[in-house]
Amino acid sequence: MATEVHYHDYLQLDKILNAQFPESDKQKLPAHDEMLFIVIHQVYELWFKQLHYESDSVVEIMKKPALNDNSPELQTVVHRLNRMVIILRVLVHQIDIMETMTPMDFLDFRDMLRPASGFQSWQFKELEAKLGLKFEQRHGKEYYTAQLRKEHVAVIKEAEGSMSLLDLLNVWLERMPFFNEEENWENFSVHNKVEGIHSFWTEYRYQYANSLAEAEKNNLQFFDEIFLNQQPITSSRQQSLSSASSRSALFIMLYRGYPMLQLPFQLLNALLEIDEQLSLWRYRHMNMVHRMIGTRIGTGGSTGKDYLKAAADKHYIFKEIAQLNSFLIERRKLPALPSDMEKRLGFVHL
Ligand code: HEM
Repeated sequence: MATEVHYHDYLQLDKILNAQFPESDKQKLPAHDEMLFIVIHQVYELWFKQLHYESDSVVEIMKKPALNDNSPELQTVVHRLNRMVIILRVLVHQIDIMETMTPMDFLDFRDMLRPASGFQSWQFKELEAKLGLKFEQRHGKEYYTAQLRKEHVAVIKEAEGSMSLLDLLNVWLERMPFFNEEENWENFSVHNKVEGIHSFWTEYRYQYANSLAEAEKNNLQFFDEIFLNQQPITSSRQQSLSSASSRSALFIMLYRGYPMLQLPFQLLNALLEIDEQLSLWRYRHMNMVHRMIGTRIGTGGSTGKDYLKAAADKHYIFKEIAQLNSFLIERRKLPALPSDMEKRLGFVHL
């Protein structure tokens, strides 16, 4: 007969509640706030674990050769990404608790921790890599792994070498099933048609160009580079989204009112929200560090606040989606879609 499940055993509380060993106790120099410092870091690491769990499951779904956009799968992806957003919000707010520790409280035990630092949180760095942060985009390049154990560097390198969420997003967007031969675009009004480019995009480009102020005219060059570039993605292009994907993402943003595009829009939005919460965390962590240690170097030996500021500015993962907002036009100027395409974007597929 199976033994009864008990709360204490089920949650392995023996292990978790007996895993706090303040250095200040070991050195018999009591520092009250070290317990808080340990517990809060452990809680963060547990949430990081959950973030990995959710993001791995999303990657598994999106890795399928044909993620079925018409099945519950896409809804599951969006639901789990939104859960990650809520967890990240909690992580941002936990800094409030950490900040109840004053700089003098921290000094009571800070030197006992050297050279340990949050910098050695491999789970955090692995998560960035799984989401899509590439080695080349990291502030300090090799330095970011300099203080990690060999086995943890291997974990991060493996994540960097695998398909990230951003890579899978690119594949999914490239598959977006519009602008093929099924729609009847014959009566679609087109200005300045360009050979080889679908007439929707030449029309959109025309409307976009007309919406630009004199000082913004350069944007048209960026528009062509992002949306009409026929070159494949290479590392030298420093881009993760191809032109075809960027067009799909922009189309989703523009026509998100249609039922078929609502979930895809929520997916893009959740990714932007993940970036925003990660960045909020970085800024709040950085300000806390400034308040706690001023301009002194970190226990991990970095320049402290300056390092964190540079990482915060550089480590946006889904910035290519965020930048698409520069290419939106007013709703009333949007090209009207052919009626058979409108039907395909609706609830009823006639
Ligand atoms: C008194 C509180 C804290 C201070 C003074 C502090 C200080 C620092 C400093 C100075 C760095 C830069 C690396 C170094 O030289 O050490 C750093 C990095 C980091 N810390 Fe903290 N930290 C604190 C709390 C936390 C907490 C609660 C977490 C939660 C896990 C955390 C996670 C991290 C992470 C993940 C990094 C690496 C960031 C990156 O490389 O982009 N820190 N911290």
